[in-house]
Amino acid sequence: MAGKITDHFKQELLARVDLVDLIDARVPLKRSGSSYVARCPFHNEKSPSFSVSREKQFYYCFGCGASGNAIGFLMAYDRLSFPEAVETLADSVGLQIPTERPGKVEDQQRNPSADLYEIQDRACRYYQTQLKSHPAAARAVEYLQQRGVSGELAQRYRLGYAPPGYRNLPNDLPQDLLKSAGLITAKEGSGVYDWFRDRIVFPIRDRRGRVVGFGGRVLGDGAPKYLNSPETATFKKSREVYGLYELLEAVRKPEFILVVEGYMDVIALAQFGIPNAVATLGTSTSEDHVNLLFRFTHELVFGFDGDTAGRNAAWKALEASLPALREGRQLRFLELPDRHDPDSLVRAEGTESFLARVKTARPFSNYFFDHLAEPLDLRTIEGRAALVKLAKPLIDRLPSGVFREMIEQRLIDLGGYVSPEATDNSAKLVGGRNNPEKANRGKPTLMRMFLALLLQNPPLAATIAAESRRILARAEKVGTLIERVLELLDEHSDLNSGGISEFFRETPAESWINTMIGWETLVPPDKIQEVFSGTLAQIEKQFKAKRFDDLSRKLMSASELTPEEREELRTMTYQ
Ligand code: GTP
Ligand code: MN
Repeated sequence: MAGKITDHFKQELLARVDLVDLIDARVPLKRSGSSYVARCPFHNEKSPSFSVSREKQFYYCFGCGASGNAIGFLMAYDRLSFPEAVETLADSVGLQIPTERPGKVEDQQRNPSADLYEIQDRACRYYQTQLKSHPAAARAVEYLQQRGVSGELAQRYRLGYAPPGYRNLPNDLPQDLLKSAGLITAKEGSGVYDWFRDRIVFPIRDRRGRVVGFGGRVLGDGAPKYLNSPETATFKKSREVYGLYELLEAVRKPEFILVVEGYMDVIALAQFGIPNAVATLGTSTSEDHVNLLFRFTHELVFGFDGDTAGRNAAWKALEASLPALREGRQLRFLELPDRHDPDSLVRAEGTESFLARVKTARPFSNYFFDHLAEPLDLRTIEGRAALVKLAKPLIDRLPSGVFREMIEQRLIDLGGYVSPEATDNSAKLVGGRNNPEKANRGKPTLMRMFLALLLQNPPLAATIAAESRRILARAEKVGTLIERVLELLDEHSDLNSGGISEFFRETPAESWINTMIGWETLVPPDKIQEVFSGTLAQIEKQFKAKRFDDLSRKLMSASELTPEEREELRTMTYQ
């Protein structure tokens, strides 16, 4: 899909789909008053606290706080990326996603990526056939058998064989596309030849099952041992992992995903009944990898080889994961015995004992602090100060939240009192814990009632007088937010709650807005307008009283009032 999805299109889409139908098809809903309820699909519970409103086009769980509109639901439930969710919704109502790029007409009719996917699929089929029928394939089959790969598994992973010789790929495959896919290559003076020759090929599929590239292993000891497709428009090594599609075919909701280094590790584990492994493609683990995998599981286990390279890879993976770590997401580190990789270990020990190792793999915090503290002596002040110094910048890369606070607390426990400078750091570290705003989140204040009523009943915006609006814009902390909401409602007069929420996706206010939309105000429908006006009147009264106070105090402390302030005070007094 090319181009950016416009706000306009998102709103049109959200106006056309019905969230109740969408959810009901996946999680059967029961009617309850003006909304629909079910047991929450996002956490385990006995009695239903998941509620969906047709009017708001918004769902909310009072148990776990999961909330959002139709796009958000598909992202969370079907575990789609944002563009995938939009695409799915658009398909379901027969809308075509417009592209912002003007582009040429041919451009829009035929997506060039589609050709790349197709040619790689055809090449994959060709390699699979060669494994079964090429005269030279006996060695390949024997090699796979000797490594314990069954025919069934070879099929499931679509393993193939690229025969020896320079030109084998059939001539009826479009040569320009083979070239774009990196399957044939040209060398000066020697013409065009196949990229993969006399190798077992492992097709790499994206999460929708499309072949995006290949890895190829020599039979035996040649070099390079593995050869990968070059990067193309559809193949970015820092974004894809090997085996994810096959894993999700086998288990829809994996309890954990094990990230390993090699293609053969993935295959061997699957052969031993552990389909949960994926492999990076000879590159280090990236933040994109981690974010991709956390869409499908709550727990990632890194299982890298038990050598120095493997240990370095594990630490690099930890660093790449930091921004993705928050409560509800677990990271563990499986340390393999020296000279073992997952393939050799599962063969040596069997499934049970391998799984037992996965279950007891070291949790993030344990691995993190042990690794940093390894060269230090924490019995000394210097050692503890060094730990704080090393850990601080890494902890700063964690997103704020409960998880980060726990890690910060752990650092304070380990670092103890070290120096005035370090205690300064610690004070900053715990800053989030005594944050009164957080603790007060659920308390009904006037402002919260006002925002909740407004967000849940957008037509109320039209009833706010211009003067009230100026006062609201000056409200402490939430003034700008309210103004933004009112502006959105000026521009799009028929927005529903789900539509408003869409504008705040991935902004700092997102969770606040969603909480307010889901918050139960307990105001009966026929009293909404009245309570809303009353709340607004109260807010204005409080605002004016405080302002009157501030200005009078300023006047009495003999500081100069500006002419505007003087006028404001004068008119207030006479009200
Ligand atoms: P075998 O068990 O010997 O088949 O290999 P392995 O899966 O144990 O591989 P190894 O630990 O040697 O390497 C892990 C991963 O690194 C492989 O799956 C490849 O993705 C990549 N890799 C290994 N050797 C090479 C190489 O020579 N070139 C490239 N580009 N990548 C390699
Ligand atoms: Mn190996």
